[in-house]
Amino acid sequence: MDPEIFVTRRIPGGCAAILEASGLRVETWGRREPAPPATLRAKAAPCRGLLTLLSDRVDAALLASCPRLEVVSNYAVGFDNVDVAAATRLGIAVTNTPDVLTDATAELAIALLFAAARRLVEGDALVRAGKFAGWEPELLLGVDVRGKTLGVLGAGRIGAAVARRASALGMRVLYCECGGGRREAVERESGARPVAFDELLRESDFLSIHVPLTPQTRGMIGAAELAAMKPGAILVNTARGPVVDEKALAAALASGRLRAAGLDVYEREPQVEPALLALPNVVLAPHVGSATVETRSAMGELAARSLLSVLEGRRPGSLVNPEAWERRRGGDRKP
Ligand code: DGY
Repeated sequence: MDPEIFVTRRIPGGCAAILEASGLRVETWGRREPAPPATLRAKAAPCRGLLTLLSDRVDAALLASCPRLEVVSNYAVGFDNVDVAAATRLGIAVTNTPDVLTDATAELAIALLFAAARRLVEGDALVRAGKFAGWEPELLLGVDVRGKTLGVLGAGRIGAAVARRASALGMRVLYCECGGGRREAVERESGARPVAFDELLRESDFLSIHVPLTPQTRGMIGAAELAAMKPGAILVNTARGPVVDEKALAAALASGRLRAAGLDVYEREPQVEPALLALPNVVLAPHVGSATVETRSAMGELAARSLLSVLEGRRPGSLVNPEAWERRRGGDRKP
């Protein structure tokens, strides 16, 4: 019998148990590598619900080839891998996993900030290579974090959580919203000051990126923006790789214009710009912002519950496209 729900990879925690308990037929792709696009399409075709990863491309063609599909539940807070406009046109709900991963991702941003500022990966490599010859006054000098300015680009949930942590570390916090708006809670909690984008670039000793990937944010940090940053600044990106032009970043790091970078995400994941791989002053993590046992489990459970909510006719909390829900309620699921 065809599955009613297809889960594109095994998910840690209670996700599978929640879906199984619904009594619906669930199939999970069991391999470590993703299902090839044609297989994904064949598996998805008969389904009412898909539980997808950020690395699955859920485009208009895939959505259109699933006549019974009611919901795409994306196991991530970001949903740039899903053609939300096409889903909305087809009356298909799209859900994501906000909130549950905020702290883990903010913690990784701070970890990368420290790792880059204090040259931890260089130090680890030196010790492993047997080159640690004893304490030296000038060995691997980094920079202080306390008293420095952190610029938060995009002060949504994760940006705000980074701002709170930075403020507790004694940093001055500036933030900039893409649309130029204010975040009063961030200002209250972290003493953060709203600034324009050019001031954020100019003033920040550390710049941490927390904007979603949209047509407006793609390539937002390119050669011109890197050149406008404070000399010796450190860039941290735990949001989405294509926000930063990796070639331009590698050039800025190689020239010493930027002191260092800490990256968790890449322009063409899982590929990494070769020029970055060759640099000692960049810390490279494999997209693990939310990768803790607790957080990945909570994400899976939320994704499973959101998916079932839609199939059971209840509006999920983490609905990305409320318009699709309205169309569905109005009986206009598949125009
Ligand atoms: C997300 O959720 O969008 C992160 O990139 C992975 O957890």
